[in-house]
Amino acid sequence: MIDIALFGLGRIGIMHGKNLMRNKDFNLKYVYDIDKNLTNKYSKILKAESVDNPNIIFKDKKIRAIFIASTTNTHIKFILEGVKNKKIIFCEKPLDLSIKKINACKKKIKNLNPKIQLGFNRRYDPGHNNLRKQLLNGKIGKLEKIIITSRDPAPPSIKYLKESGGIFRDMMIHDFDLVRFYLGKDEPSKLIASGSNISDKRFDKIRDLSWHRV
Ligand SMILES: NC(=O)c1ccc[n+]([C@@H]2O[C@H](COP(=O)([O-])OP(=O)(O)OC[C@H]3O[C@@H](n4cnc5c(N)ncnc54)[C@H](O)[C@@H]3O)[C@@H](O)[C@H]2O)c1
Repeated sequence: MIDIALFGLGRIGIMHGKNLMRNKDFNLKYVYDIDKNLTNKYSKILKAESVDNPNIIFKDKKIRAIFIASTTNTHIKFILEGVKNKKIIFCEKPLDLSIKKINACKKKIKNLNPKIQLGFNRRYDPGHNNLRKQLLNGKIGKLEKIIITSRDPAPPSIKYLKESGGIFRDMMIHDFDLVRFYLGKDEPSKLIASGSNISDKRFDKIRDLSWHRV
């Protein structure tokens, strides 16, 4: 059994926590969220110890792996601390919203040979996976164009749009990842993106689509 700790007990963290609790290969030892009420509540539900200081997790030598599901702006700092303390890391996408910070992090940890997996879950979807295999085996034919349509089951909350960096940067990274997944060793040469809000006037105030020129 692998002793593991979970950071972040929001929408996706709770889902990961429940999966980890059910998986017999893992012992979910600790949960930590900056919101103490959430930590206390979910430590009971997930049958894990609650901690109010993440250093307890980093310094516990029994913890082999950490799951980072806290807000995007916390990912790099937890990765750096985790790698320094020899933890295997699963981190939710995206790594960060600043490519400069991502590259600086990569430089810092490269020589420590870290094991890090990012939460690009679509790669593990049987449909996408099978399609890629058939593409790379030449069974489907020559790939000329990729058109991806992604949808969420419900519109985003205003809170999510404010904290995540916006729907383009937070969600479209899955589409970029899928494109690269399908292309194998190839890379796209040009990206063009546009968008408009036709559903909810409140989204215009956030200016989600017009913030980021792609
Ligand atoms: N792979 C996917 O399909 C997928 C889906 C949803 C979210 N995500 C990613 O997961 C991350 C979390 O998203 P969410 O929707 O669960 O957000 P959320 O806002 O519901 O939850 C984030 C949690 O992190 C906690 N947090 C904030 N700062 C913290 C800190 N310093 N230490 C510990 N906890 C802290 C918050 O209190 C909150 O409970 C985001 O990076 C998001 O992009 C990925």
